[in-house]
Amino acid sequence: MKVRGQHFRTIWLKPDDECVVQLIDQRFLPQRFVIEEARTVEQMATAIREMHVRGAGLIGASAGYGMYLAAIKATDCPSVAEFDKHLAEAAVQLKETRPTAVNLSWAIERQLKNIAEGKTAAEKPALALRTARLIADEDAEHCRMIGHHGLALIQQIARKKAGKPVNVLTHCNAGWLAFVDYGSATAPIYAAHDSGLLVHVWVAETRPRNQGSKLTAWELGQHGVPHTVIADSAAGHLMQHGDVDLVIVGTDRTTYTGDVANKIGTYPKALAASDNNVPFYVALPSSSIDWRMQDGLKEIPIEERCAEELKHADGWLAGQHVEVRVAPEESPAANYGFDVTPRRLITALITERGVCEANEKSIFSLFPEHVP
Ligand code: MRU
Repeated sequence: MKVRGQHFRTIWLKPDDECVVQLIDQRFLPQRFVIEEARTVEQMATAIREMHVRGAGLIGASAGYGMYLAAIKATDCPSVAEFDKHLAEAAVQLKETRPTAVNLSWAIERQLKNIAEGKTAAEKPALALRTARLIADEDAEHCRMIGHHGLALIQQIARKKAGKPVNVLTHCNAGWLAFVDYGSATAPIYAAHDSGLLVHVWVAETRPRNQGSKLTAWELGQHGVPHTVIADSAAGHLMQHGDVDLVIVGTDRTTYTGDVANKIGTYPKALAASDNNVPFYVALPSSSIDWRMQDGLKEIPIEERCAEELKHADGWLAGQHVEVRVAPEESPAANYGFDVTPRRLITALITERGVCEANEKSIFSLFPEHVP
């Protein structure tokens, strides 16, 4: 993705000091483009927990680099046993940061397995670095492939629109900022726009943190994709009036049976799409599939964040970041971060290996190595 014409990933190693990880601190967007440096696993855990970095793929890549930072620190350990203990503690610390995106535990477990192959403490940081890079590079490549497969779906719709723009609706930010590059839900949109198709995106604001209006709108703007920010509650109205050709959202965890956990407010959009015969697609790299979970509603852990986040809104006034209360101080608030869309409401999943139905048989046909 380009920011003011310059290519960026969301996370990378500092070019002149590979013991430092640099990342885009998303809390300041769209007003300021801030690059943060993480030198310790504690700093990386804070960046994930406090949402300096966020989005399933990027949480996974950040955890991968967090384990690498822990491995560098562990080289001070006097024995391999001490080294492994330090790494196990770092893994727990990172896993506790956020509960819903499965990419977090997926990346940490991959790191633990690969680092364990090192026979001496001296070998292990190099293995951790190689794995962190691999996780990040794969994430970018898988999103690029999602773009390739999703483009075909948008092209099909464009053929019926006789030169009018294809209207895509998306929720939250499953964009470049939620991954290492390209994004999942946005990858087909960028591919369509870059291929010369006319595309317009309805961007749901996504209260309470406004990842849609702050992040998705910003990155679509940087890429020159026409878009319009809407209130979360406007999606059904637009669909009833024929103003949405397809919905593409991301996911933080999808069961191997096709149930999709995504940012709170996704499920009502899927219901409205079903009622109005609007195709509802979920774009995801396979790192967001939980191969152990069968029933999304019963099993996927749903993050609950603090009430204050919901009772306040923030933004910029004359260049200053300001926060205001938008609910009575004494009212309690319940701040659920995610909801689960059952597979029956999903038209198809767009993965790095192609498009499949949201059910066990179709998912396993694309990923046979995961058949138990
Ligand atoms: O709480 P966040 O911002 O980390 O939530 C993640 C999301 O942005 C969405 O749920 C997104 O649609 C899926 S992550 C690719």
